[in-house]
Amino acid sequence: MVFAATVEGFQCTGFEINSILTGYARVKAKWKGIPFSTASFVNQDFWKTNLSKYNNMTVFLAPGVMEVLGRKLEKELPDEARVIACRFPFPDWTPTATEGDGLDQAWAYDMNTIRKLSTHTIMR
Ligand SMILES: C[S@@+](CC[C@H](N)C(=O)[O-])C[C@H]1O[C@@H](n2cnc3c(N)ncnc32)[C@H](O)[C@@H]1O
Repeated sequence: MVFAATVEGFQCTGFEINSILTGYARVKAKWKGIPFSTASFVNQDFWKTNLSKYNNMTVFLAPGVMEVLGRKLEKELPDEARVIACRFPFPDWTPTATEGDGLDQAWAYDMNTIRKLSTHTIMR
């Protein structure tokens, strides 16, 4: 996902808690000639990281964590952030768009829309 995003012109940070996979991604970036300033891979637990400096996030995780992750992102991401969920959607969020189907489905969410909808729900 990180490599695909760099091709689209994004500057990316990949979080991976498994050090072997982090090492593999770093070697692959070097082999592809992608500079650290364009794609960096950090061996870091994103639950213990404040994500507020990121404008866009793409996640491919397990269904059981999506609800809790949604709450963390609602607290931390800027209003203009866009979040892409691969394979498993956020159960409480309304997507702006979706593409693909089955195992290849992905959902896009805009933080400002998510926040407006959750304010609306609280006010009712
Ligand atoms: C479904 S796999 C996706 C792997 C890869 N990104 C891909 O697109 O094929 C989820 C990955 O997230 C990593 N992961 C799970 N929890 C994490 C956490 N708290 N911080 C960083 N990485 C985590 C796992 O080690 C695993 O490699």
